[in-house]
Amino acid sequence: MTAIPSPTIQLNSGHEIPQLGFGVFQVDPVETQRIVADALEVGYRHLDTAKIYGNEAGVGRAIAESGIARDELFVTTKLWNDDQGDPEGAFQRSLDELGLEHVDLYLIHWPVAERGTYVDAWKGLQAIAESGRARSVGVSNFQTKHLDAILAEGGIAPAVNQIELHPAFQQRELRGYLAPKGIHVESWGPLGQGKYDLGELTGFQAIADAHGKSVQQIAIRWHLQEGLIVFPKSNSKERMAQNADVFDFELSAEEMDAIRSADQNRRVGGHPDEIN
Ligand SMILES: NC(=O)c1ccc[n+]([C@@H]2O[C@H](COP(=O)([O-])OP(=O)(O)OC[C@H]3O[C@@H](n4cnc5c(N)ncnc54)[C@H](OP(=O)(O)O)[C@@H]3O)[C@@H](O)[C@H]2O)c1
Repeated sequence: MTAIPSPTIQLNSGHEIPQLGFGVFQVDPVETQRIVADALEVGYRHLDTAKIYGNEAGVGRAIAESGIARDELFVTTKLWNDDQGDPEGAFQRSLDELGLEHVDLYLIHWPVAERGTYVDAWKGLQAIAESGRARSVGVSNFQTKHLDAILAEGGIAPAVNQIELHPAFQQRELRGYLAPKGIHVESWGPLGQGKYDLGELTGFQAIADAHGKSVQQIAIRWHLQEGLIVFPKSNSKERMAQNADVFDFELSAEEMDAIRSADQNRRVGGHPDEIN
């Protein structure tokens, strides 16, 4: 099984993350082992799951059956909101479900602002990182106010902030805050979760036609050239392969500018202030 030729990005822990991976949000737990086995077969080596997806066990079984060396894989999972009072216990349960001794990246899934427990949860994640059982730790769906709150406590900065980001929702302001702090951005919903037609964004279809690629491939290539970490989800092995077939062309500076101007500040998922 040959790995896709994804570049890697070095995180603040010193560890490298493959820039292109595979996400398993809304992948049925019953189907997960087969679908992740397909993704590994296609060549993905970076898998993004979460406790709340209910499919960590299937991800773990696919990894175990694949025969791929553990150090060739990058596995992310996430601390669910209800578990923010006990990150250590929740982390161990995730490891048990995955059947792994360590994960590569462990994230606080949402800031759960009303309860404010994310600040203490972040201390718990740093302790987990110090134990070596999560090679890197980070956050997800954090806005600047949440990041300010955890950074004010001292300690290490999150390796990443995993946020909703796609061509119609480019998050320029938050990215401008994160970049100088060395916090890398992971794009969730990189294809807009299929909730709008990428081809309807100004200029998008023409760029796809010019390269003989699908609008989804153009979007993924755009994330990569923006320096974002990205892990599109697909249940279909054919679309998995299509989404990884993005290393034989390059978007020009003009095309990158055209996609930049397609931003509509259009969120397709939940707002961090509304999730509890
Ligand atoms: N931290 C968070 O709060 C958070 C939230 C959401 C997601 N995530 C992570 O981000 C990952 C990616 O986001 P996402 O799964 O929400 O959305 P996404 O990757 O933007 O979109 C997935 C949708 O696009 C379709 N699709 C995939 N490739 C396609 C292609 N080449 N052509 C046409 N349609 C295609 C899929 O359908 P098929 O399956 O039928 O191909 C699915 O309906 C998740 O799996 C998860 O790991 C994190």
